[in-house]
Amino acid sequence: MKLCMIGTGYVGLVSGVCFSDLGNEVICVDKDQDKINNLKQGIIPIYEPGLEELVLKNYKNKRLKFSTNLSNSIKKSDIVFICVGTPTKKNSTGADLSQIFSVAKEISKSINKFKIIITKSTVPVTTGDEIEKILSKKVNKNKFSVASNPEFLREGEAIRDFIYPDRVVIGSNDKKSATKLRNLYSPLISKGAKFISTNRRAAELIKYASNAFLATKITFINEIANLCEKAQIDVEDISIGIGLDKRIGSRFLRAGPAYGGSCFPKDTKAIVNTADKFKINLSVIKSVINSNSLRSKLLLKKVNEILNKKIRNKNICFLGVTFKANTDDMRDSSSLEMIPFLSKKGAQIKYYDPTGFKKEFSNLKNVNFANSIGEAVKGSDLVILHTEWNDFKSINFKKLHSSKNLKIYDMRNIYSPLKIKSQGFKYFGIGR
Ligand SMILES: NC(=O)c1ccc[n+]([C@@H]2O[C@H](COP(=O)([O-])OP(=O)(O)OC[C@H]3O[C@@H](n4cnc5c(N)ncnc54)[C@H](O)[C@@H]3O)[C@@H](O)[C@H]2O)c1
Repeated sequence: MKLCMIGTGYVGLVSGVCFSDLGNEVICVDKDQDKINNLKQGIIPIYEPGLEELVLKNYKNKRLKFSTNLSNSIKKSDIVFICVGTPTKKNSTGADLSQIFSVAKEISKSINKFKIIITKSTVPVTTGDEIEKILSKKVNKNKFSVASNPEFLREGEAIRDFIYPDRVVIGSNDKKSATKLRNLYSPLISKGAKFISTNRRAAELIKYASNAFLATKITFINEIANLCEKAQIDVEDISIGIGLDKRIGSRFLRAGPAYGGSCFPKDTKAIVNTADKFKINLSVIKSVINSNSLRSKLLLKKVNEILNKKIRNKNICFLGVTFKANTDDMRDSSSLEMIPFLSKKGAQIKYYDPTGFKKEFSNLKNVNFANSIGEAVKGSDLVILHTEWNDFKSINFKKLHSSKNLKIYDMRNIYSPLKIKSQGFKYFGIGR
C-alpha cells in the first residue's frame, strides 16, 4: 500500500519505517527541512534503539522516502497518517490541536482520489469529527474517510512495540476503510496482535483512558512508597506482592520520580479537560495529576534531608536526566524541575546521560555535563540515580570515588542497599 506519514517525529518516523519494512511504500513528510535533509543522509533525529539500521535498510531499497512536500506526498498516497504533535495548550489544560487542523486543511487541498485519513496522533474525542468537517468544506464526502488509529509504542522500545503490539485499535465509522486498515496491519495480527475495530470516538478515548490508567498505576505505587518509607517497609516487596495478582499485573508498579515524558502529563490533563466539556468530573485522574505534580518537590525535600539541609556548595551528580531510559526525550522529565531547583539553591551539579549534553540546562549556573560516569561521580557529595539506564546498573562506586562520605540517592531502586552500604557508602532509595 502507498502510505504518507505527516510528521516525522517519534511516532511518524518509527511507524513509517516499520510500515515500509513490512513491504509498503512510505513517504515520511515533515515541515522541518533540516530533519528531512538529515534523514536523507542517514542521520537519525532521535535516539531510538534499532531505528537507524531499519531506516538505512528501507531507504536504500527505496520503499521509504523523505520529503517536505506535503501536497505531492498526499497525492501519491492511498492512506495518510497524521502524526504531528498535540501538546498542552498555553494557558489551558486542553490539547493544542492547531497542528492537526492545519494539516487537515492542507490535506483538503490535495485529495485527488479516495483516501483514508488517519489520526495516529493522540487526539481528544470528537477530533475526527472536526477533521471530517474541515475536509468536507473542500472535498466531496465520498472521496475520503477519517479514521482513528492510536499509537501505543513506548519510546526506547518503539520498534519492538510497533512490530509486536498487544493490540491494534482501529476506529472507523466506515466498514470498507476498517477492512483496508485491518489488511495493512495483517502481518502484525498474524503474529499475535489483537485487532480491535470500533467507532472513531471510542478509538480516540481508548488511547487517553490507557495513558490515564498507566499514570494512575505509577502514582498509586509512588504514594504507597511514601508510606513504606515511614513504616520501614521495602516498596519493592509490595510491588511484587500486589503485582502477582493477575487482576493487577506487575508492570508500571515501580516506585520512582514523578511520571514524565511526552505523553502522560499532557494526556492526563487533556482527558480531564475533555470530560469537563462533557460536564463529567474525572476526580481520580484529577488527583493523580495533583499527586504527580507534588512528587518532585517531595523528592527534593528528601535531597535536602540527605544533605543535612545544606545544599549550598554541595557537589551533586545526576546519573541520567531523560524521563526514562533508552530515549533522548527530555519532555516533562522530572530532572527539569530538580536540577534548576538545586542549582538555584547553590549546589554544584554535574550530570551524565548516555544521550549526551542537554540544551535545557545550558543556561543554568553551576550545572555541567560530564563526559563519562566516572567524571560525573568523581568528587561528589551526593549521587542521584535519576534514570534507569543499564549503563548505571553495575557501577563500582568504590573504584570511582575515594571518600567514604559519598551518599547515593537511588530514585529507581536499582541498587542493593546492602551492597552499597557494605562498600561504606550511605544509601537512600524510594520507599525503602
Ligand atoms: N512519543 C511517543 O512516545 C508517543 C507515543 C504514542 C503516541 N504519541 C502521540 O503522537 C503524536 C506525535 O508525537 P511525537 O512524539 O512523535 O511528536 P514529535 O514532536 O516528535 O513529532 C512531530 C513532528 O511533526 C512535525 N510537524 C508538525 N506540523 C507539521 C506539518 N504541518 N507538516 C509536516 N510536519 C509537521 C514536526 O516538525 C515534528 O517533527 C502526539 O499526539 C503524541 O501524543 C506519542
